[in-house]
Amino acid sequence: MKGVHFLVAFVFLAFAASFAFASDPSPLQDFCVAINDTKEGVFVNGKLCKDPKLATAKDFFFSGLEISRNTSNPLGSVVTPANVAQIPGLNTLGISLARVDYAPYGGLNPPHTHPRATEILTVLEGTLYVGFVTSNPDNRLITKVLNPGDVFVFPVGLVHFQFNVGKTKAVAIAALSSQNPGVITIANAVFGSTPPIRSDVLAKAFQVDKNIVDHLQKQFCTDFLLVFVLMALASSIASAYDPSPLQDFCVAMDETDGVFVNGKFCKDPKDVTEKDFFFSGLNLPGDTSKGVGSNVTAVNVEKIPGLNTLGISFARIDFAPYGGLNPPHTHPRATEIIVVVEGTLYVGFVTSNIANADNRLITKVLKPGDVFVFPIGLIHFQFNVGNTKAVAFAGLSSQNAGVITVADAVFGSDPPINPDVLAKAFRLDKKVVDNLQKKF
Ligand SMILES: *[C@@H]1O[C@H](CO)[C@@H](O)[C@H](O)[C@H]1NC(C)=O
Ligand SMILES: *[C@@H]1O[C@H](CO)[C@@H](O)[C@H](O)[C@H]1NC(C)=O
Ligand SMILES: *[C@@H]1O[C@H](CO)[C@@H](O)[C@H](O)[C@H]1NC(C)=O
Repeated sequence: MKGVHFLVAFVFLAFAASFAFASDPSPLQDFCVAINDTKEGVFVNGKLCKDPKLATAKDFFFSGLEISRNTSNPLGSVVTPANVAQIPGLNTLGISLARVDYAPYGGLNPPHTHPRATEILTVLEGTLYVGFVTSNPDNRLITKVLNPGDVFVFPVGLVHFQFNVGKTKAVAIAALSSQNPGVITIANAVFGSTPPIRSDVLAKAFQVDKNIVDHLQKQFCTDFLLVFVLMALASSIASAYDPSPLQDFCVAMDETDGVFVNGKFCKDPKDVTEKDFFFSGLNLPGDTSKGVGSNVTAVNVEKIPGLNTLGISFARIDFAPYGGLNPPHTHPRATEIIVVVEGTLYVGFVTSNIANADNRLITKVLKPGDVFVFPIGLIHFQFNVGNTKAVAFAGLSSQNAGVITVADAVFGSDPPINPDVLAKAFRLDKKVVDNLQKKF
């Protein structure tokens, strides 16, 4: 069965890449691999695009996220980004990934904002105390202690932090809903700007004595305790972000009376708690013994109501040894960026039917720490080519990415697609089509 699914689906890849997609208006082609403008000082929103004919797997690939970083610095944390600067193929696709290492006993990713991204983070190792602050006037701090497998959301533009409260080092993987989320570290931005912000301005803004401001301006990024105290006052730093969220967040509620909205209804912000941004259990492997030998644990708005309107979600994918397959599928509403944490995956995607680019299959073998991008709407797959199990984590640039498994959608639809249509579309004998329709 496994072999049948895989082979069949594979053969169809070349033909099947033109299913309809509804996606955000931003990407106007399959992808727009970034290049550096070597000639004039021309700027675009994002980066210039490489000729699609010249795009290769390298443009969608990054290696090294398995490496734990040296956290011997004053804050005791290091962020290793995998964004458009490292992966040019992320250009225009609205997502990126990062690894964060935290030193034992107090490693801190200090209060900061991402002006252009919601962040969704899972802990691989250790124990983190995390939180974010809502905007004015409430500036409510919402916190949670996270253990391995726990997932937490930091809504776009809000001040947030992660703090290692364990005796061992901690490691987290985070997906961010921008190719270039930006970082504004509150302490550095406010007290360490060049030139410095006038100290009387800061004294007034933070309602503290000018001497304290002077002191802070001298050692802005080492004194995180003070910064912490100031968080409640400082959480209205301006953020520019996508137009969709019109408030801090819109925690999803079940619809009533057959009324539909684009997304979900929002809970009264006053009733929102840390639970709305939290999911637990991503440390647990999915059972890969059935079907095609893979199991996707999706952490989307169904699991985390706080993701509503925020344009991102997360997943863990387990693969059985010797051929566990996440079969060819598309996410109609999301670009996917994965990192392998265990095992060896052969992955790929197929470009659409644009003139001269011919449904090109772009593939790569990934090892632990490697990162790969599957552009929005394109058919893609992951296949375990190792003799051990494999595990990957993926960020998806939608709160509800959707999945269209090619084989199931085409041969297993209800009611079935007319076999004549499929025989013609796939240039197959009708008997073969009948057979396939029985299988799916
Ligand atoms: C673009 O230029 C920067 C700085 O010169 C360099 O670090 C980077 O690797 C270049 N990126 C690409 C995609 O060529
Ligand atoms: C980490 O960095 C510190 C300071 O730069 C250095 O003293 C230490 O040897 C490094 N540790 C490792 C394991 O490389
Ligand atoms: C995935 O794994 C979970 C947890 O082991 C299990 O409950 C579920 O049935 C599995 N799904 C599939 C499709 O095998």
